[in-house]
Amino acid sequence: MAEDLFIHSGTKEEQYTTLIPQVKALLEGESDLVANLANIAAALKEQFNWLWVGFYLVKKEELVLGPFQGPVACTRIRKGRGVCGKSWENKETLIVQDVEKFPGHIACSSLSRSEIVVPIFKDKEVVAILDADSESMAHFDLTDKKYLEEIVQLIVF
Ligand code: SME
Repeated sequence: MAEDLFIHSGTKEEQYTTLIPQVKALLEGESDLVANLANIAAALKEQFNWLWVGFYLVKKEELVLGPFQGPVACTRIRKGRGVCGKSWENKETLIVQDVEKFPGHIACSSLSRSEIVVPIFKDKEVVAILDADSESMAHFDLTDKKYLEEIVQLIVF
């Protein structure tokens, strides 16, 4: 495909439904995991311009920073720690409206106000998580959950 992303400026739902076929096209024919995670992070950043979006990969008993877009971030997160570690432990998507109210939230950037973390599964085990942070309070909702869960299912681990 052409390397340029078509950026849609409609509702959140419309933005995702325009983006998803483009993400599929980006992944098509490419088997390298890092390349694919990097392009997904870039596509999400370009479309939504969140403060931070990227991946942490499960390595032994920790999440280790993977491809991302945004400010530098903490490199390792233990299971159960922060929003990412909790999402991994609970095997569920977490939407945090106000990061200051989430017990144990790890503030990689002081600018982050709300966050969504989506676990990524292989054979029913979490192998990675997708994390997105916003500078706006209560930015993420069930629409983001629905489409981000769809997007991470496109990744072959
Ligand atoms: N806030 C996350 C840490 C990762 S950064 O936001 C990139 C957490 O509490 O797990």
